Amino acid sequence: MRMYDVIEKKRYGRELTKEEIDFFVKGFSKGDIPDYQVSALLMAICINGLTKEELVHLTFAMANSSGKLDLSSLKEPGRYIVDKHSTGGVGDKVTLIVLPIVAALGVKVCKMSGRGLGYTGGTADKLESIVGYNINIPLEDAIEQVKDIGVCLISQSDKIAIADKKMYALRDTTATVESIDLIASSIMSKKLASGVDKILLDVTVGSGAFMKNIDDARKLARTMVDIGNLAGVETKAIITSMAEPLGKNVGNAVELKEVIEFLLSDEESLYSNTSNDLKEVVFEIAAYMIKMAGLGDDINQNKKDIFRCIVSGKAYEKFIELILAQDGQVCDVYMDWVEKELPMPILKDSANYLKEIHAQNTGVIVSIDSKKIGEALVCIGGGRIRKEDEIDYSVGFEFLKKTGDFVNAGDTILKVIYNDKEKFDLAFEYIEDAIVIENMLPEVSNELKNKSHILDIVE
Ligand code: URA
Repeated sequence: MRMYDVIEKKRYGRELTKEEIDFFVKGFSKGDIPDYQVSALLMAICINGLTKEELVHLTFAMANSSGKLDLSSLKEPGRYIVDKHSTGGVGDKVTLIVLPIVAALGVKVCKMSGRGLGYTGGTADKLESIVGYNINIPLEDAIEQVKDIGVCLISQSDKIAIADKKMYALRDTTATVESIDLIASSIMSKKLASGVDKILLDVTVGSGAFMKNIDDARKLARTMVDIGNLAGVETKAIITSMAEPLGKNVGNAVELKEVIEFLLSDEESLYSNTSNDLKEVVFEIAAYMIKMAGLGDDINQNKKDIFRCIVSGKAYEKFIELILAQDGQVCDVYMDWVEKELPMPILKDSANYLKEIHAQNTGVIVSIDSKKIGEALVCIGGGRIRKEDEIDYSVGFEFLKKTGDFVNAGDTILKVIYNDKEKFDLAFEYIEDAIVIENMLPEVSNELKNKSHILDIVE
């Protein structure tokens, strides 16, 4: 078989056989097929798409391209190992909040997370804004850690679905990321190789997500759910809004601060201080994870348990346990409101400057474009353009106002935390462009403010 013929066939839009797909995935994984030929094939797939059969063969071939994680030692009767995966966005710190909560409630989680690229953030980077946190522990140690404390959070391993890792790097530089078929095979191959019993997907939609409209988000969700179920791994997808950045903070250390604040909430602050969009997504995802793990069929009851788990401090305790287990540094800080010292992660958060961005006119914020805010973060150094770029963990944005809020001209909408004045100037254009304020009736602004961020559930 020749790679040239496989590329040509797909270029004509014809269906590839299982043998042809296996040939190119194996050859590429072993280093026998050069990048330029795989890039050409990926472009042909991007343009002509895949049939259902091709997509399934591709995903399974990628999942089997290197080792699979063996989680059998974590299994317990009547319980299931569930993985959670987000298709990405801006300000998405859901994994960092959900994992300690569900782990504190008895769900075992062995999670691998990726780094941020372009305007979307990555959980691995956010964790590395904690001094000392080791995201690269060996897989065997990660499994032992789950046995000990119920949770680990590590970076994507080379040993799992190597074809995806190599292909994603090519896609990233050849404008072939935005394809539902390639995104679905990429995500599902590594999830299937991660050895879990069930998969919960958070499919984001909006300017800061890969899927820009709800129809495409449903299509991606349906495609991934079907692949998972076909592989015998129960899969569900929750479609969530990424029209504006999720929560109050965007950046690495600043998002960790929001995570800490969320997990330290008492009853009153959980109602009043945490951002509604973040709270809604966290509760929904965590409640479904608990259900899929076999620990509670009633979603509403699960949400009540999650609430108690947070306000009792158990979720925060688990979060600190996770950080300490992976060598993250923690110091004791006296907290007025609980009148005691609490362990607090030490963050790489020392930035030099802070600037407030004010409303240009009076009215209601009708949108905050999350892609533009993600781009602005890259400008001030908090995200990377190329994989090998260093990032500045300390920079970011803290939003005081969000979509649906009324502002008077001159009110502070957000604070920018940064280190380099020239970079700030670049970011400022994106920020100004991202925020739209209009005059509108209070009913309409209430509608905007109270809009649910859970848009659909695909099972
Ligand atoms: N996340 C992935 O893991 N792969 C994609 O292709 C897109 C988002």
